Amino acid sequence: MNRFGSLLLMSIAVLFSASCDDSKKMRLSDVLIVPLPASVTTSDGSYTITSGTKLNIQKGLENEAEYFSKFVEKRLGYKLQLTETESATKGIVLKLNAENKELGAEGYQLIVDKKGVHIEAATAAGVFYGIQSLKQLFASRAYIQLKSGVTRSQPIPYCEVNDEPRFAYRGMHLDVGRHFQSTAFVKKYIDFLADHKLNKFHWHLTEDQGWRIEIEKYPKLTTVSSIRSQTQIRKTEDFDGVQHGGFYSKDDIKEVVAYAKARHVTIIPEIEMPGHSVAALAAYPELSCTGGPFVVRTKWGVSEDVYCAGKEATFEFIENVLTEVLELFPSEYIHIGGDEAPKKRWNECPDCKKRIQTEGLANADELQSYFIKRVEAFLNGKGRKLIGWDEIMEGGLSPNATVMSWRGTKGGIEAAKQGHNAIMTPWSHLYFDGYQGHQDIEPYAIGYWAPMEKVYGYEPIPSELTAEEAKFIMGAQANVWTEFIDSPEHIEYMALPRMSALSEVVWSPIEKRNFEDFESRMRPMYERWTATYVNFRIPEVVAPRVIVLNDSVAFELGSKMDIGQVRYAFGQQDIEDEYMVYNTPLIFRRNTQLTAALFLPGGRLGPITKHEILLASKAKRNKEYGLEYSLFKGPFPKDYVKYFNETEPDETGRAFLPDPKMVTTEMGNFGIRFSGLIFMPNQSQYEFYIDTNNPCSIFIDDKELFSTDKRLLKTKKVKEDIDSGYHKFEVYITNWWSAPELSIRFSGPGMEEQTIPASMLYTVKK
Ligand code: ACM
Ligand code: ZN
Repeated sequence: MNRFGSLLLMSIAVLFSASCDDSKKMRLSDVLIVPLPASVTTSDGSYTITSGTKLNIQKGLENEAEYFSKFVEKRLGYKLQLTETESATKGIVLKLNAENKELGAEGYQLIVDKKGVHIEAATAAGVFYGIQSLKQLFASRAYIQLKSGVTRSQPIPYCEVNDEPRFAYRGMHLDVGRHFQSTAFVKKYIDFLADHKLNKFHWHLTEDQGWRIEIEKYPKLTTVSSIRSQTQIRKTEDFDGVQHGGFYSKDDIKEVVAYAKARHVTIIPEIEMPGHSVAALAAYPELSCTGGPFVVRTKWGVSEDVYCAGKEATFEFIENVLTEVLELFPSEYIHIGGDEAPKKRWNECPDCKKRIQTEGLANADELQSYFIKRVEAFLNGKGRKLIGWDEIMEGGLSPNATVMSWRGTKGGIEAAKQGHNAIMTPWSHLYFDGYQGHQDIEPYAIGYWAPMEKVYGYEPIPSELTAEEAKFIMGAQANVWTEFIDSPEHIEYMALPRMSALSEVVWSPIEKRNFEDFESRMRPMYERWTATYVNFRIPEVVAPRVIVLNDSVAFELGSKMDIGQVRYAFGQQDIEDEYMVYNTPLIFRRNTQLTAALFLPGGRLGPITKHEILLASKAKRNKEYGLEYSLFKGPFPKDYVKYFNETEPDETGRAFLPDPKMVTTEMGNFGIRFSGLIFMPNQSQYEFYIDTNNPCSIFIDDKELFSTDKRLLKTKKVKEDIDSGYHKFEVYITNWWSAPELSIRFSGPGMEEQTIPASMLYTVKK
């Protein structure tokens, strides 16, 4: 390690050790476990693991013992002495007790007292989850201590934990079709699942943009389908010109499956059909309706080219592929996709038309249903069960299929009402490719709005279901689609800490779920990730985006993490060295713009947020800061500007910026009008830069400055001569389904490009 590296580690160690004392008095608040266990009690005192601690296990727990030993060795730097006895009571004892039925198939009991640690469960899985809880109680800072030479286990509070999961299906998904990831990273990802007691890894292995699994019978799936020539950049019309490829050999898959099994994680492979299959069609165009030719898709979005449902060759191919998939994956459940398969080609294809006729089907929807039923019969014949996205219900659901509800919760509700199993994974809450904070401070993401609090608030059992119907909800899963996420670091950023929030949704008792309590229990998790260089999303500084203060009232910056420092700088500062450490509330005598971020030991900093502090006394005479907003629920006509000006709004209020997120973070069909005055400091030609992903219009003095009717990410620059002084200012934005994004920046002579500040926006005092 270089000098800088060791200095860095020492500085991390110093920052961590501040709160690391050996106090004997332990409280309930010291048992910080995520996901929250069903029951925790504590008593005074603590137990500390040392290099002399024995690990006693029973037969059948060798895998769990090895997992735990390796963890201790990695974190504390020593091997525990392993013994196999029935009667051991001291040290760390792992015990199987099949008689103990109370805790269910995955539950466990963890007792820490003066004798040591006792974990007991009816199954190895239960013991494994007990180990996960134990890990969280003694090792959050250990890795960094080990590196800096002062290893010691944190004392474990005396406690008794009785725990079992709420749902049997606790899943995370990863799309490796859009961007391939190494087996090393996939294993790391599985470790994140295991840490959170999640037990299903949905591995999305095939896509339009890449086929990632070796199939011996079809070698071109790896030589052709796994490579695309280049990649669309975000949602623009540009491409990167860089080839992207990768696939997992059969040995790779076996290695990952075994790795997951040792962590009580079942891998559910997804082989997409009939849509999202252009990569396969590029190699085998005879499986399409048109015959091709095709290239592995370089654009995002949905392709009209899908497997032909009329040709027998398609089913032969799919059965051959699935036969090899079943050899690799022991999972009872196999995911066959089924989403986003347009019917255009089928409606035009002679083979598909013939199939509709000979099978007596009404239309192409029923042809999709025919397709899925045929594949289901094949899987059922091999003793496996089919999972598909909620589109598999269109045209009639297959007899035994499980529905994965992604387009909201309707599919899951309908499936449960029909007596089918369902897994909830609504894009509104559990699509982790969506934004976890305001788009201004986050890396580019798809338009969903799913910050941690919203994930945490998700309830998998829809209120529409009776108690009987609710039994069909197997659990929930979050998905990480990777169109706009290419690196392991970025995947970690999107998955963590939201995976922690998901884990409580699917594991913890509903009546005990509480977001603030959850956040307070995240401290060791954040410490562990910081110490082991996991690229989790650091919480942003807690402070309002805009605030109007009376003179000499103080402004506070808060942090949701105990480690790290809140720092701030004046203006729109991006030079990290110029940030100052925040200690006490700040007092301002003039309108001020601040930037702020949480700086972690080790050098990472969280999202840099901007804040505007306005002094009420500085507002111009007869005016006050802020715009009026009016919110309109959809649907509304295409000429929304006229409609918004002629219709009573559903809600009105004040917003300091023309930013939809200042009004609502809901997703869905609505529109907002912002209106007021903009104060321009000088007469000049100004340039405006507008980014939006929805139909939007902006007017200054009733003159249109900007307008788009597209639902695409759009950036536009416009020039406008404007006199100094006040001007009527109106912004209209509509929203169809995701969360609306709008950023309005400007520049002028001697003024750098900047977001229009709240200090320029007014309404006349009533
Ligand atoms: C999906 O997000 N297309 C399942
Ligand atoms: Zn066809």
